[in-house]
Amino acid sequence: MKYSEKGLLKIGNVNALTLVKEYGTPLYVYDLDIIRKQYDALKRAIPKKVKIFYAIKANPNPTVCSFLRSLGAGAEIASSGELYVALKVGFEGKDIVYNGPGKTDEDIQYAIKSDVHIINVESLDELHRLNAIAKNEHRPIKVCVRVNPIQGVKKVKMQTGGGSQKLGIDEEQIETVVKTALSLNWIELQGIHVYVGSQILEEGVLLESIDNTLQIAGRMAKQFGLPLKCLNFGGGLGVPYNESEPEFDVENFGQGLTTLIHKASLLFDLSETQFILEPGRFLVSDAGIFLTKVISVKESRGKKYAIVDGGINHAFLPIRMNKKYPTAIANKMNWPNENTTTIGGPLCTSMDVFTNEVELPHVELNDIISIFNSGAYGFSASLLYFLSAPMPAEVIVQNGKHFIARRRGKKEDFLSNCELTFRF
Ligand SMILES: Cc1ncc(COP(=O)(O)O)c(C=O)c1O
Repeated sequence: MKYSEKGLLKIGNVNALTLVKEYGTPLYVYDLDIIRKQYDALKRAIPKKVKIFYAIKANPNPTVCSFLRSLGAGAEIASSGELYVALKVGFEGKDIVYNGPGKTDEDIQYAIKSDVHIINVESLDELHRLNAIAKNEHRPIKVCVRVNPIQGVKKVKMQTGGGSQKLGIDEEQIETVVKTALSLNWIELQGIHVYVGSQILEEGVLLESIDNTLQIAGRMAKQFGLPLKCLNFGGGLGVPYNESEPEFDVENFGQGLTTLIHKASLLFDLSETQFILEPGRFLVSDAGIFLTKVISVKESRGKKYAIVDGGINHAFLPIRMNKKYPTAIANKMNWPNENTTTIGGPLCTSMDVFTNEVELPHVELNDIISIFNSGAYGFSASLLYFLSAPMPAEVIVQNGKHFIARRRGKKEDFLSNCELTFRF
């Protein structure tokens, strides 16, 4: 982390206190240069024929999405809301893939009308609905089957593949789905999609899963005639949240991926295959910092607490993941650590604790607490209207410049869609 001689945190060459003064707290700050660095590192490492589709759910801020589009990414979406964001920021349908185990007829219709590149089907009944809606719209649709593989992944906390899942279709049931898809007139089957879990830190673990995906695809192509026009390996590339966690080695990952694709292409024809990766966290996590002001300091039975103005309604993930998120005091970056402090938000629930017992310099009123690695699943995975609180602002920084990307919400927002003609 960079800071000035006076110990003031700098984000993208901008003093964090300047941002706080101009935009207030709680505040998300995203540094575009870090997003570019992550995107470039991944793009450089992987084979040219593997395309990156940014998983918008990690950070749907339109400026962030638009920036990733400008770098060459496509978009992975999982709701009509995300599709709307993607289209608004300029992604074309052909650059969008659509996941989700609970797509409604309206969602599917909207996706088809928007010419979404591929819809990943997650159940047999959804396949039939896709076919019926495509027929109704007179537009055939490209589909991949999302497979829940028999083989899960080891050492991954947030598994989305392997075992029993609501996500995808069990590998054992794929024969029926592939045969059905091939028989339906309005479905253009492309291949398969597998996403086994998030926050995978060892590239070998992800490569093992990709190897398995390639083998499943090859087997299905041979046995049931699955086309191999698209193979989607999902996301999952992790980032370290503390010093004990390793960095995901993108270069090793890229080399491994090149080898796996080459090996598989000796066994079956992959010359026309489009390969897809859908990273979210890896691209944006490190670029985001959450700034929140200390509004009360107290002690309870020997434990020191700093109560801040941002809570789990603004940044839920630090609590959900039960992590000690990297934390510092933005205005005391060069002060020695002095206290073990627990940082809690302003909400009246004991759940609302950011970082439990973190070592910090002496904490005082009006200090600015910074929670790093907040760019992914920070704003987007929060309980945004809990306690009727307004949404935090989001600001972009880039090499000394800064601008607002989302204005701070107002206390009136919570009632904005409510009927206020009371009858009682
Ligand atoms: C289908 C799908 N693809 C990609 C991602 C992005 O995952 P990550 O942020 O771990 O890269 C997710 C996250 O939930 C997902 O559900």
